[in-house]
Amino acid sequence: MSEEIASTSNEIKTPTDFMSNYKGEIAIRLTDLKKTFDGKDFVITGMNLAIPKGSLTAIIGFSGTGKSVILKHILGLYKPTSGKVEVLGQDVSLLSFDQLTDFRKRFGVLFQSAALFDDMTVLENVCFPLIEHRRDLSEEQVIKIAGEKLNQVGLEAKHFEKLPNQISGGMQKRTGLARALALDPEILFYDEPTTGLDPILTEMVDDLILETHHLRAGQTSVMVSHDLDAAFRIADYVAMLHAGQVLLFGTPEDFFKTNIELVQTFVAKGLKRSQPT
Ligand SMILES: Nc1ncnc2c1ncn2[C@@H]1O[C@H](COP(=O)(O)OP(=O)(O)O)[C@@H](O)[C@H]1O
Ligand SMILES: [Mg+2]
Repeated sequence: MSEEIASTSNEIKTPTDFMSNYKGEIAIRLTDLKKTFDGKDFVITGMNLAIPKGSLTAIIGFSGTGKSVILKHILGLYKPTSGKVEVLGQDVSLLSFDQLTDFRKRFGVLFQSAALFDDMTVLENVCFPLIEHRRDLSEEQVIKIAGEKLNQVGLEAKHFEKLPNQISGGMQKRTGLARALALDPEILFYDEPTTGLDPILTEMVDDLILETHHLRAGQTSVMVSHDLDAAFRIADYVAMLHAGQVLLFGTPEDFFKTNIELVQTFVAKGLKRSQPT
């Protein structure tokens, strides 16, 4: 093998290569995951992915590459056709419906639309998961915790009694995030948190994700996004999906150094789009 080929192949990090050197704990592990919805076409074609505990990891890829499908497997909403999904050491597909409901308390999820309850106030929205899952708490305790979570994400008390349609898009995101934080989750998931937002709001939400990640030691955050700027700016690790597999897993630096053409194209396109013309 020539020098050149040897050094080139050294630079390519498959998830397996990367993780073979990783000694820390893993929060989420996908092993040879395959998924077909119709029994013919595989949307996920044999995915291996290990997300380090305590990391902020971004899952990126063109639209339709299976990012949301992966997230739904991790949340136990979809069952693998084959392969394994382990979250916090637990094989998710082995859990019964009730066990899964209980298990999901350990996650917080913020979807693209903040998915707030329109007819509940800001405060009531954040109280909701606490009332559902923390029967041990008194009403005062629930309200106190909800208020603390709202403060943590930068919402002042004067907004607590407003309805979602009476606050700005940014405040709605903050409320959704406070609700996701209500149960002190071990893993926080964001699915396209900034899609459809203007650049200023996008940056605010990205910063909020980063700040929230650092609120608690050991917190694992997983952000699904097609926003490359955010992924490279705030994530510790990035996983790029393509054709139902992980094409590259590594640090943002690895993505700029890679010689995988498809990744180069994706990176160039994504970064060009967000540059001022
Ligand atoms: N419930 C479902 N039934 C059938 N096909 C689905 C379902 N959910 C997702 N898919 C398909 O899986 C592929 C990946 O979708 P998705 O994970 O939503 O992409 P994205 O990377 O944009 O989040 C798409 O082709 C989509 O049509
Ligand atoms: Mg999606």
